[in-house]
Amino acid sequence: MPNNSAWRPASWRNFTALQQPNYPDAGALAAVQAELSQLPPLVTSAEILSLKQRIADAQEGRSFLLQGGDCAESFADCESGLISNRLKVLLQMSLVLVHGLRKPVVRVGRFAGQYAKPRSADLESKDGITLPSYRGDFINAPEFTESARLPDPRRMVKGHARSAMTMNFVRALIDGGFADLHHPEYWNLGWVTQSPQAEQYNKLVQSVGDAIRFMETISGEPAHNVNRTDFYTSHEALLLPYEEALTRQVPRQDGWFNLSTHFPWIGMRTAQLDGAHVAYFRGIANPVGVKISAGVTDAQIAGLCETLNPENEPGRLTLIHRLGAGNVEKELPRLIRAVKSSGARVLWVCDPMHGNTESTSNGYKTRRFDNIKAELERSFDVHAAEGSHLGGVHLELTGENVTECLGGARDLIEADLERAYLSSVDPRLNYEQSLEIAMSIVHKHGRLY
Ligand code: PEP
Ligand code: CO
Repeated sequence: MPNNSAWRPASWRNFTALQQPNYPDAGALAAVQAELSQLPPLVTSAEILSLKQRIADAQEGRSFLLQGGDCAESFADCESGLISNRLKVLLQMSLVLVHGLRKPVVRVGRFAGQYAKPRSADLESKDGITLPSYRGDFINAPEFTESARLPDPRRMVKGHARSAMTMNFVRALIDGGFADLHHPEYWNLGWVTQSPQAEQYNKLVQSVGDAIRFMETISGEPAHNVNRTDFYTSHEALLLPYEEALTRQVPRQDGWFNLSTHFPWIGMRTAQLDGAHVAYFRGIANPVGVKISAGVTDAQIAGLCETLNPENEPGRLTLIHRLGAGNVEKELPRLIRAVKSSGARVLWVCDPMHGNTESTSNGYKTRRFDNIKAELERSFDVHAAEGSHLGGVHLELTGENVTECLGGARDLIEADLERAYLSSVDPRLNYEQSLEIAMSIVHKHGRLY
């Protein structure tokens, strides 16, 4: 919450905003912002505040946060099968986690707005031609042509509409009982039976009734409160003109809400204390996340806590560390201690994807399942050794049977990547690998049947 009453959604404009496109026509951009600011929001302030409460619970170890979805959504992938399969895998994973960790799971999709991407270079050159980099469907198109790469502000209006369609479908699926924990048989995708994990998975599904009874016991609430699954959305709030236009005041609530998503986060490349993203995020009332990489200093992490959560409000701030399997044991203790000595209360989440990206000899960007799993397991251990606790996981995944990450139960090898490598940005866990990660969390920290 802003302790500064002068804060406005446009206040970020007084600071340096990294990773923004260069729109050629300022008038067209202003017209789009004016249009967006009149369009209905995608979420409500009541939902945002309920998520903040749930994150506060996860911070105290009473629940676990599961956040996942594509690295980048694309307009073309706003399609019913892809959306429902992604929702299904997240729900199945949460079923595994609820059951094995014996805790409620806070489910947060990385979708309905994940259309803007940070890039390491502003320009891309190929065969002597240099064009602006692809920055996500909110901004431009991936084809390597001048017209595709020209930033077009109208794409924000289209992205808002696609986000609304995605939200609408997710809400309808959930309201229609798709997510009903009493019906795990809806979730049983056929091919899982071929997985080496099949036996454990089948036993797990069979004992869901037991988990529901256990949840009733710990929550003290009857089953009908359990069978309606809440689902929240998140995205990297990178493209500030879009976020600004969706930031509103609402009747009978204090403060400003980003109503484009429940849970926006700041990416690693835009987390500078004196940058425009931090200046924007400090003023909104949403729960917010920040990606933390190995390069973050003790002073920066303490400064982020102080600036983004000066009142130390429970549930307000989530730190998502993405250090890499080889670095996590070295770097994480320092980061945990820096937060502790600042007195800040945060939710710690592990993103085991972004510190483990590598290129194969045949030119694919990939991640090894074993590194993803190892970073997650080491993170649990380091937090425990430091008297802290890991309260959630942030994953790039899809409900499809893609071949983008190596390893997993089917032991995908480099030669498999070309078969179904569909991501235009980072490699995602496929359906089976995602479920396997959920099981490995339970294996280490819960109870696996
Ligand atoms: C991402 O989450 O896709 C991403 C770019 O992450 P990071 O900011 O941690 O590099
Ligand atoms: Co990514």
